[in-house]
Amino acid sequence: MKILLLGSGGREHALAWKIAQSSKCEKLYIAPGNAGTVNCGENVAIRADDFEALKDFALANGVDMVVVGPEDPLVKGIYDNFKEDERTKAIPVIGPSKAGAVLEGSKDFAKGFMKRHGIPTAAYGTFDGTTLDEGLKFLETLQPPYVLKADGLAAGKGVLILPTLTEAQREFREMLGGMFGNASAKVVIEEFLNGIECSVFVLTDGKSYKILPEAKDYKRIGEHDTGLNTGGMGSVSPVPFATEEWMRKVEERIIRPTVEGLAAEDIDYKGFIFFGLINVKGEPMVIEYNCRMGDPETESVMLRLKSDIVDLFEGVAKGDLDRREIAFDERAAVSVMLVSGGYPQEYKKGYAISGLDKVAGSVVFHAGTTEKEGQVVTNGGRVIAVSSYGKDKEEALRKSFEEAQKIEFTGKYFRRDIGQDL
Ligand code: AMP
Ligand code: GLY
Repeated sequence: MKILLLGSGGREHALAWKIAQSSKCEKLYIAPGNAGTVNCGENVAIRADDFEALKDFALANGVDMVVVGPEDPLVKGIYDNFKEDERTKAIPVIGPSKAGAVLEGSKDFAKGFMKRHGIPTAAYGTFDGTTLDEGLKFLETLQPPYVLKADGLAAGKGVLILPTLTEAQREFREMLGGMFGNASAKVVIEEFLNGIECSVFVLTDGKSYKILPEAKDYKRIGEHDTGLNTGGMGSVSPVPFATEEWMRKVEERIIRPTVEGLAAEDIDYKGFIFFGLINVKGEPMVIEYNCRMGDPETESVMLRLKSDIVDLFEGVAKGDLDRREIAFDERAAVSVMLVSGGYPQEYKKGYAISGLDKVAGSVVFHAGTTEKEGQVVTNGGRVIAVSSYGKDKEEALRKSFEEAQKIEFTGKYFRRDIGQDL
């Protein structure tokens, strides 16, 4: 099978690494990819949201399947775009339809969906410019801290958690006033949930589903979860509190009603669902849905997936996922992200990265890299994910930290406390 994978981050390098191991994959293209994905296939200089160019490329090169990494092309409707075009309708796209991607693209839709299907989540209200006063009053009924969410996609920055009512009311007005542009034309105000987060992933063909290994990610830039939010500084799988009993609750109360709810609402969904969960006194609740895999969770989860991922994708495309096998590696897997100095605020790009060839005990996934005059250079805030196996997370983390020392670039920073809170 010839496969075209879309995206350019660490998640996509991890997916490319896994896809390239499949005996069913005859050729892998990555659009646009990065300096690491070239080791798994051929990079193609097309943006992941340039649908016309992607379709032309797929047709000219006999692509049999498209796998979508990031949310952006999904929310923009790549699945529908391929399906509605006579020339490309036979090429399966792994990822939900535009209607399905709304689970991530609109917080208000996601909350309404959960409410309709009895899926446990925080109490909430949604407000816009015409209901500003109701929103201010709703805030008064809640206990601090206050959670405000821009309804639409805001590059991962659309959630504010405020300690006082005064600040919450001020920020609420600012959000409706255009703080995140059109994304915050509607704002979801939510009850604050106290607990530890866990990311759970499933792959679905719209009828049945397979649950992938769960993971925990580390979002803050500073050690012990301090400082600004980032795209993710590392991840650990498995998550100790995600016991068999807890995962049974997740499946019964959250996963199954979600997949059945999508079918009941006639939403075409063939791809990954990412459940952002929080463990509140032993009970799983949904914080958010994403219509794709997590980053940097994928950089640990792919290490733990023993099965052939292309076989699973084929099951998604053909609608016989229930007949495919999924097996996990019993070892722990972790990922430590090396980031650019200054990230998640301003940082410089283009620094030479050395020492990649010295890494032996870990798998190196490129996140923000590119090649310039034969040299791998930094090209983003998150630069390299160092992923490792271990008999437990401690052993895996020791390896990642050791190997992380061998990779050098100006301003390199990483958190040394990944996994320590568990
Ligand atoms: P989201 O973009 O919805 O994942 O929100 C970003 C982060 O804000 C989450 O990963 C949580 O850490 C936090 N968060 C979101 N909603 C809540 C909530 N209702 N209670 C507590 N923390 C939350
Ligand atoms: N690691 C969280 C995310 O991918 O959204």
